[in-house]
Amino acid sequence: MKSTTDFVKMKTNGEKIAVVTAYDFPQAKLAQQAGIDMILVGDSLGMVVLGYDSTVPVTIADMVHHTKAVKRGAANTFIITDLPFMTYHVSEEEAMKAARTLMQEGGCHAVKVEGGGEVIKTMKKLTTAGVPVVAHLGLTPQTAGVLGGYKVQGKTAESASLLIEEAIKCEEAGAFAIVLECIPKQLAQEVSRRLTIPTIGIGAGPKVDGQVLVYNDLLTFGVDRVPKFVKKFGDVNAVVEQGLHTYVEEVKAGIFPEDKHSFTMNEEELALLYG
Ligand code: KIV
Ligand code: NA
Repeated sequence: MKSTTDFVKMKTNGEKIAVVTAYDFPQAKLAQQAGIDMILVGDSLGMVVLGYDSTVPVTIADMVHHTKAVKRGAANTFIITDLPFMTYHVSEEEAMKAARTLMQEGGCHAVKVEGGGEVIKTMKKLTTAGVPVVAHLGLTPQTAGVLGGYKVQGKTAESASLLIEEAIKCEEAGAFAIVLECIPKQLAQEVSRRLTIPTIGIGAGPKVDGQVLVYNDLLTFGVDRVPKFVKKFGDVNAVVEQGLHTYVEEVKAGIFPEDKHSFTMNEEELALLYG
């Protein structure tokens, strides 16, 4: 399994880092088989798997439950789990306890936190205590309510320079990687150039050190609309719709199950049964 220093080395060597989210055993197993460098148990869980309309309702218990499933599916892959909404803002103590729960009970190798400012102090605390931390700047879905929706961030010189400063502070606070979500490609390139730690982009263009996408988005799996930055790498919806439709039809028409799907009792036992 790769370690936090391996990811920094990959950046130094110009080797791109491929990250995907996963929320359960089969997804994680297939991600590991595909050679994914790290899996993120994102709190996007709330939207793509649990059916909430934001990441706000996701709890630590939800994250632990799904991290355990992912871990069973991908025992040899580095796993990052999101600290959910408001679990690292009330106090540093709460943040530390939340991270401990995710690592000890969930079994993740690192946690991810959204935002700069005060969160950077918490990041420092966590890394000092031995918790590997991934930072997350740009569009931070947990604060979408405050940002006024899911919008591209850092488009003005002022907001871009603030983001660069905060990214540097995240690195100084000990983060070993940083997710950059929904920012102009030129800004993502500049952040990547200024940092030693790898940048993992999502809607941040190609000049970053790695990419992350939501599993269900890139495979069209249970989602209808996907953001502009998603490429369609597969169509699970189509496969499932076709399969389930045929199943319903065949059950109703008595075509399924066939003899080869059925078990047989031998004649002797049948004779005994009927006397
Ligand atoms: O929760 C998530 O899936 C994420 C990624 C989009 C980076 O945080
Ligand atoms: Na997230």
